[in-house]
Amino acid sequence: MIKIAGISGSLRKGSYNSSLLTAAKEFSPKDCSVEILSIKGFPLYDGDMEEEFGIPEVVAKLKDRIAEADGLLLVTPEYNSSIPGVLKNAMDWLTRPPEDISRVFRGKPMAIMGATPGQAGTRFSQTAWLPVLRALGVKAWFEKQLYVNGAAKVFDESGKLIDEGTRGRLEAFMAGFARFVKG
Ligand code: FNR
Repeated sequence: MIKIAGISGSLRKGSYNSSLLTAAKEFSPKDCSVEILSIKGFPLYDGDMEEEFGIPEVVAKLKDRIAEADGLLLVTPEYNSSIPGVLKNAMDWLTRPPEDISRVFRGKPMAIMGATPGQAGTRFSQTAWLPVLRALGVKAWFEKQLYVNGAAKVFDESGKLIDEGTRGRLEAFMAGFARFVKG
């Protein structure tokens, strides 16, 4: 059984990206478990805070969970054609101190997907993550791409994935990523 750590970049209850992550867990292959992790409670990065108090507990715990996982799945919204600040801020905390990046990220299989009610399916945001992946030193998986657009029709009011086409693409995406993680 392989373990994939999944992070949604949205904090809101009705988040399409969190719904997509939940669906990714549900539609993953049987030998792959997705652990849904949260960036809720991360403070804004402040170097003075870090110097005085060290790494916040909520950050240190998430780093450990990522380090323990065999792979990392990031489900990113798109804000103003780029990465939402909330998620970038969390990622910046997760790379502190820099000496710990290799333990948490280096060589870790990682995939990105995203959902939006808009038309472009988070293409800009996912593309904006690319230089960050390089900085982290992860082993990025690019064999498939998943851009979920028109999310208001893809998920029902409760967040359940109801679009068959998206479900098929998600299953194929997770199967491919799981194979990659297994090596
Ligand atoms: C957005 N949204 C958005 N969507 C998009 O496809 N491209 C974009 O550039 C933007 N820009 C943007 C800026 C800001 C500040 C907000 C708050 C929103 C819409 C966004 O995709 C929508 O709010 C999603 O529902 C956010 O994801 P969650 O919270 O549903 O996961």
